[in-house]
Amino acid sequence: MTFKVGYFVGSLSSTSINRVLAHGLISVSPDDLEFFEIPIRDLPLYSQDFDADYPREALALKSAIAGADAVLFVTPEYNRSIPGGLKNAIDWASRPWGQNSFDHIPAAVIGASVGAIGTALAQQSLRGVLSFCNARQMTAPEAYIQFNPDDFDEDGGVSNPRTAEFLRSFMGEFRDHIQRVLTVLPRGAGAAS
Ligand SMILES: Cc1cc2nc3c(=O)[nH]c(=O)nc-3n(C[C@H](O)[C@H](O)[C@H](O)COP(=O)(O)O)c2cc1C
Repeated sequence: MTFKVGYFVGSLSSTSINRVLAHGLISVSPDDLEFFEIPIRDLPLYSQDFDADYPREALALKSAIAGADAVLFVTPEYNRSIPGGLKNAIDWASRPWGQNSFDHIPAAVIGASVGAIGTALAQQSLRGVLSFCNARQMTAPEAYIQFNPDDFDEDGGVSNPRTAEFLRSFMGEFRDHIQRVLTVLPRGAGAAS
């Protein structure tokens, strides 16, 4: 059995260190996790005016989450919180009222920063948002990555063995978390789409 993990990269930057981290995470993940990126770049800014008629990009977002067994957020920290583009995507996915795409979904958060606190405050902010959205978050382990380009290689791998082991352990725990959550409530069994 495999689990499909939809991952969000919270950055729109063409040189995103968080996309490097996302690829590194995938490279050390258990074999029974399959990954696909859930894009957020082309979403318009959310307004309740759209609730009666969601645009194509937002329907695609909700469809992608519905097709995932779990979601992984790999995000930068912007001004001690999450980037607006990621919050916008979460707002789209959480609506229309009663059709919250994150209801009961297994989720994990991680992020990389150039700063020493490694997105700690962004992750706390994101955890609050996901809590309200009723996602089933992995609470531990936490992973605050101060990005060092030497730890990752250009092929999407992790070149630093200690970093690789840490990220491997994080993803192994996430895999177990996904299995535990879905054992209690399989996707589609009672959760909103
Ligand atoms: C608008 C903005 C706000 C930022 N705020 C923070 C911050 O609060 N904490 C932090 O550690 N780094 C902050 N940074 C620096 C980011 O860690 C750095 O730009 C990083 O490369 C962003 O991740 P990305 O490359 O995946 O986009 C900020 C960067 C920008 C552009």
